[in-house]
Order: sequence, then C-alpha cells, then structure tokens
Amino acid sequence: TTSTDAALRTPIVAVLGHVDHGKTSVLDKVRGSAVIEGEAGAITQHIGATAVPLDVISEIAGELVDPTDFDLPGLLFIDTPGHHSFATLRSRGGALADIAILVVDVNDGFQPQTEEAIEILKRSETPFIVAANKIDTVPGWNPTEDAPVQATYESQSDRVRGDLDEKLYEIIGQLSDRGFSADLYWRVQNFQNNVGVVPVSAMTGEGIPDLLTVMMGLSQRYMKEAMEIDVAGPGVGTVLEVKEEKGFGTTLDVVLYDGTVKEDDTIVVGGADSTIVTDVRALLKPRPLSEIRTESRFEDVDELKAAAGIKIAAPELDDAMSGAPMRVVRDREIDDVVSEVEAELADIAVDTEEQGIVVKADTLGSLEAMSNALEEAEVPIVRAEVGDVAPRDISVASTAEDPMHEAILAFNVDVLADAHTAAENQDVRIFESDVIYRLIEEYEEFVEEREQ
Ligand code: GTP
Ligand code: MG
Repeated sequence: TTSTDAALRTPIVAVLGHVDHGKTSVLDKVRGSAVIEGEAGAITQHIGATAVPLDVISEIAGELVDPTDFDLPGLLFIDTPGHHSFATLRSRGGALADIAILVVDVNDGFQPQTEEAIEILKRSETPFIVAANKIDTVPGWNPTEDAPVQATYESQSDRVRGDLDEKLYEIIGQLSDRGFSADLYWRVQNFQNNVGVVPVSAMTGEGIPDLLTVMMGLSQRYMKEAMEIDVAGPGVGTVLEVKEEKGFGTTLDVVLYDGTVKEDDTIVVGGADSTIVTDVRALLKPRPLSEIRTESRFEDVDELKAAAGIKIAAPELDDAMSGAPMRVVRDREIDDVVSEVEAELADIAVDTEEQGIVVKADTLGSLEAMSNALEEAEVPIVRAEVGDVAPRDISVASTAEDPMHEAILAFNVDVLADAHTAAENQDVRIFESDVIYRLIEEYEEFVEEREQ
C-alpha cells in the first residue's frame, strides 16, 4: 500500500512575546518539570527548538491530560528571542508555526513586540493562547509549586486574587482592543473564537500544566488534518538563520515542517541573488547537555523527520537568506524543485513601484511584514531587500524625485559605515528599529516635518 508513510507530525508551537517577558523561562520550566518527572531523556533539544513528547506532556499536566485522548506525538516549541522578528517564522502560504503562545508579563502588559506579534498572528490567522506570566510577583502571592493554576488562583487571599484579576483583565482588555475576544482559559468554551488566557509563573511552575493542556487540546481539535503528512517524502523547511560555524563553514538553521531530510540529499535553498542547489554534507543537532564537554557542540544524524529543528552543513550557502524556503530534491527533477522554490520566493517578493522609499530587513519574513505594514500606511516602496544598509541603497534613495522618499527604513539590520557617511552627504534619512510600527511612525513624523 502507499499510505504506510502517512503520519501525524508534531505541531509546531512558536513562543512569542516582548523582550524579558519570560519566553525562555517558560520553556526552561517545561524542560525542568520533565527532569523532575524523570523524563529528561525524552525531551529532545533541537536547533532552535525543543520537542516534548505526549507522554511527558501528560506527566507534567497530571490529571489535566489523559494521553489516550490524543494521537498527536507531542509539541515542538520554537523559542523566539525578543529582538528577533517572529516574522521569520513563515512557510509556504503563511505561518510556520501551527499555533503560538504569546507570553505577556502581567506587570508590563502589552509592549511593542507584543503588538507586533499580535499583528502577525492576526494576519497569518495563527491560533494562539496568551500565557500571562510572572503571577508569582503579585505581592503576597502564596505559591503551590507546579500546580494547575485554577486551584492555586482560588486559594489566594481575596486581596491577592483581586490584584491579579486587575492585571489579567487589563491584558484581556488589550486583546479585545485588537479585535480578539479573550477570557481566562477555564471560561473559554470555544478556542476557535476566543483567545484563552492562562495565568502562569515560569518561576514556580504554576499554570504550566494548564498551558500544556490547552496547547495539546487546541492542536488536537483544530489542527489534526494539517498534521497529516507523508513523513518519508522529500523534506520541506524554512531557514531560520544563516550562521558561520567553526569547522563547518556557513550553515543553515532550518525548521523542517514536512517530510524527511537525509545526509547526501540534494537541497534547493532561496538565495539573495539566485537559488542555491547543493548537497547536504552533515545534519547537525545539539549534543545533550550531559555531553557538553566533548569537542564539538553538535552530533551528526543520518536523517531527520518533520517536525524538527536542524543545522544543515553544505557547500555554497553564503548567499542563503533567513526566512527562505529549503526543499529536498530526492527523486524529482532538480529544475522542478528550483521552480517550486522560486515560485515561493516570488510569492514573498515585495511589490515595488517607480518611486518610493528603500526598505532593508534581516529576513524575508520581516521584509514581507514591513511591506504589508507600509502598504496599509500607503507608503510606496522603490526597493526592498534582505541585508544591511549599503552605499548603493543611499544612491537609490538620493535619486528620489519626491523629497519624502529620500528615506531608508532599516529593520533589525546594520548600517555600514560608508553608508552612514553617504547618507549624511546626500541628505538621506535612515530610520533604524527592531519594531516595525515604530519605523513607520518615525517615517510618518519625518514626512510631516518635511511637509511643513
Ligand atoms: P528574550 O529572549 O530576551 O526576549 O527574553 P525572554 O522572554 O526569553 O525572557 P526570559 O525567560 O529570559 O526572562 C526574563 C527575566 O524574567 C529573567 O530574569 C527571568 O528570571 C524572569 N522571569 C521569567 N519568568 C518569570 C516568572 O514567572 N516569575 C518571575 N518572578 N520572574 C520571571
Ligand atoms: Mg529568551
């Protein structure tokens, strides 16, 4: 039969949120709880991701999860550092993540990167829940380590619970201002129409069982069909980072969301100037912590199935772009796969006009997010590229007919020294930020100034 390779893959969960709101701590707590449950070996660390199998989830979640209710293999969590745009996490036709956890510090509420994450979640129609983190910091909080949150919430004094409620309802209100009807997760009946808010503490572990339970339930109920893949088929993934690695040259950190990648596979990768066709030299995963003292930080694997995070070493990767597609050729025609990758890249390509501003960004995904935001603000773009701001960008901006277009919006990239000088000499304004809407606001202020 042909269906023997069909399987349900692990849903990909992006953990998002503003800098320091506790994304890594929440994941660390999940890993830590697994160690306490004697399941440390079952959790596998990937490049940029952590895989938590279903039986471990059910151990941590205790009575909240009955593993026989689920047939998905577990969850693959991707940690996104606050300074790194979540926009990179894209795949053919939308978001790379199947679901997301938006981590919000209860004391800080919504912050710029929270806003940005919400915008992208909305646009990509990615289902998400909110982890309202750091509930242990409410003065007078009486913790019950690793407990489900509803019980520990109800066991607080009226004053403490009142204080927390105030913070939680602030977050719920902020969600509703952005068009999401939200409530504490235990009051949510239908997670398709409502965003569940899970109060958690990455410090005490309270609410972590609930968080895993809600994620598991969400993916099982609403994403099962999307998880049915041909695991043995040629791999498909997204490049998260292009990195120099000692002994390996330029490597790609990839999240594989379909099929398999094997050593010696020919792969096609989106590059800045042209599409790259190359052969996998090594598939690298991080060594377990216990082996950290060995020579290399990585160990070789022969093959890897979706969903997973992996570092790929191969020749000729210098030109590869973060956010670009990666496809395994296997027994197909190289040209066909090249066309597929090119079609995907064309899909992301930004519509440029005869006149407009210059946009530079760190990844294809962030470039796309920038262009969407600029389109909404009715700002035309003359040139949009991944990469640092270089003197030739200044030349393009300086030849604009309209003085309002003598500007460069630089998202999460560097401005080369000679570009700075050129910009000063030619009166081109460079705006730099790692928050998209800030760039646009600053540009709009500049337009107002120049109009006066
Ligand atoms: P970036 O990766 O830099 O964007 O930050 P992050 O969101 O991963 O935050 P991280 O997990 O590094 O936590 C930031 C700080 O908040 C650290 O000092 C943590 O110890 C602290 N922290 C995180 N979660 C909690 C929590 O639940 N309670 C308390 N009291 N502190 C927390
Ligand atoms: Mg972090």
